[in-house]
Amino acid sequence: MRRKLAAGNWKMNGTSDALAQLDALRKAHPTPGVDMLICPPATLISAAVVTAADHALAIGGQDCHMNETGAHTGDISAAMLKDAGASHVLTGHSERRTDHGESDEMIRNKTKAAHAQGLIAVVCIGETLKEREAANTLDIIAGQLAGSLPDVLTAENTVIAYEPVWAIGTGKVPTMNQIGEVHDYIRTKLEQRYGAGVGTSIRILYGGSVKGSNADEIFAVSNVDGALVGGASLRVEDFSPIITALENA
Ligand code: 13P
Repeated sequence: MRRKLAAGNWKMNGTSDALAQLDALRKAHPTPGVDMLICPPATLISAAVVTAADHALAIGGQDCHMNETGAHTGDISAAMLKDAGASHVLTGHSERRTDHGESDEMIRNKTKAAHAQGLIAVVCIGETLKEREAANTLDIIAGQLAGSLPDVLTAENTVIAYEPVWAIGTGKVPTMNQIGEVHDYIRTKLEQRYGAGVGTSIRILYGGSVKGSNADEIFAVSNVDGALVGGASLRVEDFSPIITALENA
């Protein structure tokens, strides 16, 4: 059985007053029936780890550099995230791919760097609207999986997040059939590459305009093991119903 994961990506949102949301989140779910993860901005990681102490709520980074140290102004290494108390890191988010020109190869190296530090990498993939309209979705997914994932990984250190770029922050959600088609396809690809044991056990999250109002139907789709939530993870009153929906799925 794959343990479900409710993950929040705060993106470039939140200063220290946002820690109150984390505190409220842990109080709202004292003994969660699913794994919980929040990826705040890097400036809040250390404080978030303190706020989440003695709770199942995990704290993660939103990106890491592929190198451990060096002359890379503004970047953060996986070792630094680990040192700050993070247990997870997102790699290959579409906003990183677009805003920072990250290639599959870079993302693969970042994922390897995360693994080398004992971090769980949440590797993000997803097609653009143009690619979906051209009926290229599955080819894009196959290419991103092949390029962004290292040859060696485990079901414990890797999570996949399928986030259609056109569904992020838009309020547009694919049909449940579309989500199911891609998640089943990812599962098959993982099993082919990593074998039935690992491939069957890696968790696959859906991300893109997940809300309390659509969470039940998304979590009922096969091979959806949780969600990576942006906007609706910022406030406990929006994120909490998503966690509850996942617990009840
Ligand atoms: P939204 O939930 O705001 O659409 O963002 C999804 C996302 O990009 C999470 O990483």
